[in-house]
Parts: sequence; structure tokens; C-alpha cells
Amino acid sequence: MKWFILFVASLVGLGLASSSYDHYRLPTDLLPQRYHLRILTHLEGPEALRFSGSVKILIQVLQDTKNISLHSRDLTIDESRTTLTHLGPETTENICVSSTEVNPTHDYYILFPCHELLAYNYYELNLFFSAELNQKMAGYYRSSYTDSVTKSPRWISTTQFEPASARLAFPCFDEPNYKAPFVVTLGHHKKYNALSNMPVKTTKPHESLSDYVWTEFQESVPMSTYLVAYSINDFSYKPSTLPNGVLFRTWARPEAMDQCDFAADLGPKILQYYEELFGIKFPLPKIDQMAVPDFESAAMENWGLVTYRETALLFSNNSSSLEIRDNVASVVAHELAHQWFGNLVTMNWWTDLWLNEGFATYVAALGVHHIHPEWRSKDRKSISDIWDTFRHDALRSSKPISRPIEVVSQIAETFNVISYKKGSSVIRMMHLFLGEEAFRSGLNSYLQDYKYENAEQDNLWVSLTKAAHESGALPRNADVKTIMDRWTLQTGYPVVNVIRDYAAGSADISQERYFSNNEVSSSHRKKCWWVPLSYTTQAELDFNNMSPQDWLECSKKGQSLPKTIDNLPGADQWVIFNTQLSTPYRANYDAQNWKLLIKTLNSENFNSIHVINRAQLIDDIFTFAWTGEQDYETVMEVLEYMHRERELLPWRAAFDNIRLINRIVRRTSQGGLIRQYMKKLLPPIYEYVNGINDTFASFQHQDEIILKVNVVSMACQFQVGDCVARAVEYFRQWQAEPNPEESNPVPVNLRSIVYCTAIRTGSEDDWQFLWTRYTKSNKADEKVTILDSLGCSRVVWLLQEMLELSFEARGPIRPQDSVISFDSVAENPVGFMLAKQYFMHNFDHIHKFYYPSVKSMSKLLTPLSMQMIDLKEFHEFEDFAGRSRNLLQGIEEKVQQTLERMRITVQWKQQNFDDFNSAIRQSL
Ligand code: BES
Ligand code: ZN
Repeated sequence: MKWFILFVASLVGLGLASSSYDHYRLPTDLLPQRYHLRILTHLEGPEALRFSGSVKILIQVLQDTKNISLHSRDLTIDESRTTLTHLGPETTENICVSSTEVNPTHDYYILFPCHELLAYNYYELNLFFSAELNQKMAGYYRSSYTDSVTKSPRWISTTQFEPASARLAFPCFDEPNYKAPFVVTLGHHKKYNALSNMPVKTTKPHESLSDYVWTEFQESVPMSTYLVAYSINDFSYKPSTLPNGVLFRTWARPEAMDQCDFAADLGPKILQYYEELFGIKFPLPKIDQMAVPDFESAAMENWGLVTYRETALLFSNNSSSLEIRDNVASVVAHELAHQWFGNLVTMNWWTDLWLNEGFATYVAALGVHHIHPEWRSKDRKSISDIWDTFRHDALRSSKPISRPIEVVSQIAETFNVISYKKGSSVIRMMHLFLGEEAFRSGLNSYLQDYKYENAEQDNLWVSLTKAAHESGALPRNADVKTIMDRWTLQTGYPVVNVIRDYAAGSADISQERYFSNNEVSSSHRKKCWWVPLSYTTQAELDFNNMSPQDWLECSKKGQSLPKTIDNLPGADQWVIFNTQLSTPYRANYDAQNWKLLIKTLNSENFNSIHVINRAQLIDDIFTFAWTGEQDYETVMEVLEYMHRERELLPWRAAFDNIRLINRIVRRTSQGGLIRQYMKKLLPPIYEYVNGINDTFASFQHQDEIILKVNVVSMACQFQVGDCVARAVEYFRQWQAEPNPEESNPVPVNLRSIVYCTAIRTGSEDDWQFLWTRYTKSNKADEKVTILDSLGCSRVVWLLQEMLELSFEARGPIRPQDSVISFDSVAENPVGFMLAKQYFMHNFDHIHKFYYPSVKSMSKLLTPLSMQMIDLKEFHEFEDFAGRSRNLLQGIEEKVQQTLERMRITVQWKQQNFDDFNSAIRQSL
């Protein structure tokens, strides 16, 4: 085909293109059957940091059509080389292309062939393209690290395609339901490694470029475009062995190889566990996991080539904290879970993203628990996921788990607390009400039935219902869809009100949606969920029975049906609903029942209430006080018992809630009250965990370590005991080391607290000392710990400098870490005003810095949203959001939620500030 060269990218730039097809989904008349992708990557030389390539797509036509529409964005397509071939039964025939069109709104590239393409026929489309290896951590992009010997940058290339960036790397049908096998061939200088989803098949010299080779990979299984991955790099790897023959390698830059052992050991074990759990073998012959120095999210589950941010994969035995190890384990377990939930069976459309992310999140908790039951991480993770869900889902602006999606930015915004954590929480609920057998066999048949295909949530409901009927977990007249649709299609979560009739030994149970904003009218609260009711009493104390003893039910019209529970104890005994928080709802009780609960809490017998329920009582009472259903005096009565409490979760509940309030109160004249209160609350537990002394070696359980870290963190923040003095002492010891890079006497799990405290109370020289360590460190987790602490300073110009450095494209802080350093300043009470001002005054610059990855930009809003305490501040931000509407495109939901959260914060200050202060004063 000989027609003029058309540079699509520049054409779009000139605004010349127009388009006739404007629906957000591709037309459905074509089916890609196989991709042959050839990419030549230049990491050095005159073409440095560019790539060129071709894609040959075998297409089946389902309906006669006059055009071929696919996705392409920011690619220069050399149309003089485009070919379209009709593959007839006997002959092949070239078909010319008469014109092309682009639709920049939906990233379409549309070709108009000279003849109509006919149903049931096969065609082969060959497109040639090139582009820069971009620096935006999306599509096919560049990343770099500094060679410690030569001090020069070393470049690598890698991909990040989910959700909709494969189209930035090659023209394709970039929707998750278009699955096809891929044959990838990578051209590169022979000194580099070439990696892709599959193992290498052959390597051949490049036909014209000396020292370049073509590495061809085996054909993949059918998969969605967002799972394709490739990389050219000079990394090293650590091999692991799996008994079943899958080759498992862990890749990182050569100088980080000593940080790979943990992930290299864990990965194969988890993979093997999933093979047993799901009853389906991992289908590829190999799997690689790779730590990428510049990475937008934490990790990506590309089939057979999982990519990670360095902090999510690397772990150093002698310098990484327990938190990092925990995190690496759950990220690895999460991405490997996707190899089944997401890769093998994929959601049909992004509406059901939670089928990917909710499952990976839940299954990861099972995976980590299976390999390390002694960590007891499953409950910690499940409970904190429910708490995060509660905070988010109490907003009016929250969204259902399963939701319509029409533009790419909406897809990106759906990777949120709701898909991940609410998704995971409702799966846990199902696991508990269906029981082990039905849950496992339902999932197994779902995976078997839809493997290499796509599914929607209704398909899952059918598989689970069938299994539940077989096992007897649900009666024949009940089905999973009826129950679960209420949780996945409806926003919010219920408060279950338990009003007891002590004389009759019964309780009336009702439900309504919970909102943090107490001005929401009652009509918005009238919602119904099918709620499995598990409960126990003071006499029974059966907290281990998490299966439902009863259900709150909904009518066909979605109204909550009244429910009375009988056979409850007398007026001297409490009842507790939702044993171990088996379902994501909050329970509220009548005053008498709360009194009974508080009495038990404040007795020797406090731990007759299960630790998860103790924690939940704390979180609930704080939450109900927030919106006026309870008061802060009752909160203080509950907290009274804490001088006996020695377990992590109740402390975490208390700390989370106190921090939330402290963010508001600390900028008022009453800010000192919480500090006084902490001086009363903390000493018993501070002593119990042995203060800031390095006693970690004596602990049996992770919970104890985490508890200690949490307690010490609060103690140093509120200047309780010897915390600050001792933290500074540790820091001085480090400063006195002749070689502080090599030797650091600060206990690893206390480093972030020690650094932050020393910087908060220290001098500019201390800051410079830590900054130097930042620039010299070879460990990503250490760098993050430091960055997070540098913002604790009270020196205004240092904070201002940090803000500016955060958004310097080629500065010492990698763009991926900009959110961390901004956050660190914004969370500091001194830094907050600076951060707020910097954000609003430099928003054009910030937007440019992130564009088009505005999702990362939206993370800057979180620390701002919880500290705007008066109406004036709120209006200031509201005006800013109005003025900046253009630049806030793509993060509309986050802006909405931010504004709502600010309003709620202001409301709290107006309504509760005095009550809170007087309650706290009384309890001092
Ligand atoms: N599939 C995601 C990666 C992703 C995130 C792609 C956002 C596109 C947009 C991956 O499996 C994931 O969920 N990563 C999480 C970490 C995980 C352990 C919760 C992330 O990156 O935050
Ligand atoms: Zn995920």
C-alpha cells in the first residue's frame, strides 16, 4: 500500500482529526485472534530512549463492517507501511485502506478499508509505529538508576498497561474482554536482558544493527491487553525453584540483589498454595517478579512478569522494618492471586474491577496466613480493611463496588478503597456465611468455567449459589445474588440498631445507612442490606461462631423487614452483635446494653469480650459520637478500661480515632488537652511495651512489635515519658558513627519514629545529616522512611524547600515519591499551612508535573481534606476547586470526596468541639 505518511500524533496535536464513532466502547463486529508484536528499543545511541515496532493482528470479522476501530494514543503511525490482508481459504488478498481517522476522546484509531470486511472472514492488519519511551510510568516507559561506581544513569525500559495504557505502546483492542494470544519479539542491544510474559523461544542477530538481537518469546495463552508486559534492562536475578517445574525468578538492579531473598523465597510458596487452593495449576512455564526503580503504583500483576515498586518487593534483613516485610508479603501475595483472579478469569468490563482487586486483596490475606500463620496477619488485615471501608463509605459521595464506567479516568478512579477493601470485606463476609466448603468449591467452578474468558459478578453468584445449595450452606429458596447485590450495587454500609426489651428477653433489630455527615436527611438513610446476624451474650461468650444465627432481610422493593430476636438474656447481661466483625456493619445498642458492655470492659473480665469486638466497640463508640448518636462522655467511659488493654487492635482503634480528632484540635487553642489526656492514657501501655528500649528480640508475635511501634509513635508525638529524649539519643548515636551509611544503631522498627522526633525537635544540621543519608542510600525503603521524616521539621524554609523539591521533575526525589514528601509536610501541623498554600498557589505546575497520571495527583488531597477546620478554609478550597475545574478533570470523584470530608471536619468542629473538650477535661 503506497500512500502518504501520516503522523497521527501530530495530526491530533493540530486538531485536524475528526471522528464519526463516539461511543466509549469499541464496536463489537471484530474479534482479535492473535497479536504478533515486534518492538525495537533503543536505550542508548542516537535513537536513545525511543522505540519503534510493528503489530500484526489476526482479526475475525463477526459482522460485515466498513471500518476497523482500535485504540492508539501518542504513537506515530507510519501509514505508508500499513497493510491489510484478507486471508481467504485458498488465497490471500491485499486490501487498501482509503482513509483513517482518530478520536482523541476515546483514543480510537479508525481505518477505512477500500472494501467492506465480511462476516466470518479473517484478516490480518499490520501497523508500524514509533514513540518516545516516556517518563510518565505508563505505557512503554523508561526508568533509571545511578550506577554507584560511575555515578552515571543506567536506563531500563518497562511497561505499565493497566488499565488503559497498552494503547500507548502499540495499537490494539485495548479492552479487557478482547483476549488473544500474544507472540512478542523484542529487539535490543545484546548486552541487555529482554523479558516478557513468556519464556524466550529464540534469539537471532538483528538484520542491520550491529550488536543488536531479536529475542522472540513463546506464544502466550489468551490474555487481555492490559496484562502484556516487556522490559529491556541490565538487571540481575535470583532464581527460586518450584517442585512443579515453574521457573521463578526475582529481578532487580544489580546493587539491590541482596534485598531479593525474602521475595524470592516467599513467591514460589505462595504460588504453590494458590495452585492447591484453586485446584488449578499456574498455566505458564515461568514467572518473573521485577523491582522497577520508577513505578507509579505499588505493583502490577502482568501474567508471568509481575512488576513492583522497589519498596514493595525488596527487603533487607538487617535494615528493613517489620512493616516493610509485611507489606512485601501482602503485595507479592496480592499480585500472585491475580494470576488466577484477573489473569485467568478477567472481569468483562471495568465495572466489575472488584472481581480482580477485591479477590486479590482477600486471597492475599489467606495466602500470607497460610505461609506465615505465626504472623497472625489475617485478622489484622481484614479488620483494617473494614475500618478503611467504613471511613470511606460513610461519605455521600462514595460509590458502589460495582458501577458504570464510561471514560478512562473513571476506570482509574475505580482503583480505590471500595474496589479493594470493601470488595475484600464482602468476600470475607461471604466466606464466613457460606462456609469453607461452599466457598472453595464455588470459586473453583467459577475459575474452571470462565478460564481464559471474562466474567461478571452475576456469573460468580451463580457458581457460589450452586455450591451453597450442594453443601447445604444456603437453603434452596435462597441465593447468593439476592444477598450480595445489596452489598455490591448499593453504596454505603448499615448501622444495625439493637433495641432490647429486657422484660421480654427479645430485641428489635433495624438498619439504616451510616453517614459521617449528620445533615443527610433520613430518607437517604432508609436503605436495606441482607445482613447475616451473628451474636453472642455475656453468658455464652461464643465469639468463635461467626456463622449467621439469623438474617436481616429486605423486601422485593428493597425495604428492610422488621426483625425481632428472642431468647436473649435478662437485664444484667449484655449482647454483642457481629462476632469478630464477620460482616461490614456497625452495631449500636440501647443505653442499658452499652452500660453493661462498659461495665465488663472496666472489669477484670474485660477480655471475655473477643479482642476484635473490643476494638470494634471502641471504633463504633467514637463513630457514633462523631455524629451525635452517642456522646464523648461515653467515649471516655469506654476508654477508661484501656489501662488494662494489652492487645494491638483496640489500641489501634483508639489511636486512629484520636488522631482523627487531633488533626482538627491541634490547630486550636485547646490543642494541649489531648496531650494531657495522652499523658494519662499511655503510661501503662508504654511501660508494658518497655518504652522505646530495644526489646524487639524478646517478642513472640508480630502483634507485639506492631503494638510497641504504635505506642511509641504516639508517646513521642505527645511527648509522653522519656520517648522524645531517648529518640534523640538514638539519633545522636547514629550521627556519631564514623560511617553512618554502613552502620546505624537505631532499632529498625523504630527508625521512622526516631528520625521524625529528632528532626522535629532538632536543628537544620540534623536535617542536613538525614538528607545526606537520603541521597546516599541504596535502599528504597530506607529512602522512604527518611523522606517521610524530613517533613517533621519545624523549620519553615526547610519545609518549603521540601515542597518545591517534591515537584521537581529531575530532582533528587523521584516523581513516584512526590506524594510521600508532600504528605510528610502536610501532615505536620507546622507544614500543613505551607502545604495547603503551596498546593493552591502552584497547582498549574503540580498538574503539569503529573499529567496525564492525575490519579497520583489526587493523592495529595488526602492530607488536606482532614485538616480544614473552619468554614473559611473550606470555602477557600471550594473556590479553588471551582476555578481549577479544568485541571481537576479525571479526579472529579476524589475532589467531591475531599470537599465532603472538609465539610464534615468543619461540622465536627462546630458541633462537637466543646463537648469533646469538656469530656476530655473531666476525665483528666
Ligand atoms: N492491578 C493493580 C495495579 C494497578 C493499580 C494498575 C492501579 C492500575 C491502576 C495491582 O494488582 C494492585 O492492586 N496494586 C496495588 C497493591 C496491592 C498490594 C494492593 C497498588 O499498586 O497499590
Ligand atoms: Zn491488584
